[in-house]
Amino acid sequence: MYRSTTVQNLCSSIINTAMSKQMRLAIMTGAGGVGKTTLAVNLGYEVARLGYKVAIFDLDPQGSINVACRLNKTPAPKATTAWIYSGFFDGTYTLTPVWEKYVNTLEVFQGGSALFKIMSSLAQPGGCNLLKEALTEYPLPHDLIIFDCPATLEHIPKSALVAATHLLVPLMPDAKAVDGTRVLLDWYGASIQELQLISQPSFLGFVINNMEDGAEHQRLSKELPPRYEARGYHVFPPIKHYTGFVNAWSEGVPLRVHRSTHAALKPIEAITGAILKVVKGEKRGKTKSNGR
Ligand SMILES: Nc1ncnc2c1ncn2[C@@H]1O[C@H](COP(=O)(O)OP(=O)(O)OP(=O)(O)O)[C@@H](O)[C@H]1O
Ligand SMILES: [Mg+2]
Repeated sequence: MYRSTTVQNLCSSIINTAMSKQMRLAIMTGAGGVGKTTLAVNLGYEVARLGYKVAIFDLDPQGSINVACRLNKTPAPKATTAWIYSGFFDGTYTLTPVWEKYVNTLEVFQGGSALFKIMSSLAQPGGCNLLKEALTEYPLPHDLIIFDCPATLEHIPKSALVAATHLLVPLMPDAKAVDGTRVLLDWYGASIQELQLISQPSFLGFVINNMEDGAEHQRLSKELPPRYEARGYHVFPPIKHYTGFVNAWSEGVPLRVHRSTHAALKPIEAITGAILKVVKGEKRGKTKSNGR
């Protein structure tokens, strides 16, 4: 079932006022398979179940959210986030309600392979501004928009960087992901300079995810938080490796629906709490904006 939202320019100023606290959270890393999509759907669900209006934009050509939320895997290109980057975007966000049995304020703007086709327009000058321009010209009334980014740090994540108010960085406590985080921070600094952004997204924080019992995971899970905190980044409580995530994914439900008492809900609630503070406009502790 699709719901199309076309917001006319006439309404823009009214809605802009109403949505002044809209949070746009880009979940990104410099490494693949670290839990971006898992966090996107579970955080989206957690915030929506509290009554807030949430849209998840799948910006990944892999379209993993289609699997996580049991959606049609081959939507028409116009019904995907690729439409925003097409050069023809007219404000039609094809938002599909998900997990309606449990929440009624969670919607997904699907991604998928159509995103491969718009890479060349994204590479044009100004291409990285298209997402922000769409959301400015055709604002959505949602309290929270989550951008689920692909693993490669190219034009799509750069467009999310331009459009986002906040960034969340999941990482696994292993050498590859740690190096990926270093690359992400370098890329962030270089991109901010290149794009000369007036308002830069701040880091909501880092979260160690999929932490296993092995020696390297345990050592890095202890060493990394103080290292990032010393540089001014908030670090959320780690999320351990739980088969519950994989099971929830294969059942096509959020973790809380899979098991309402699951231990991983506690660290997820810590991130949800930080998101709610932003959405409600409350002040929270330091959020790093790359020292600027
Ligand atoms: N804490 C966890 N415990 C166990 N499995 C997890 C955990 N977090 C994520 N996973 C599993 O790891 C796999 C990769 O997760 P996910 O797809 O969310 O990562 P990703 O960063 O979005 O990957 P990609 O870079 O491909 O987009 C999935 O099968 C997911 O169920
Ligand atoms: Mg993903």
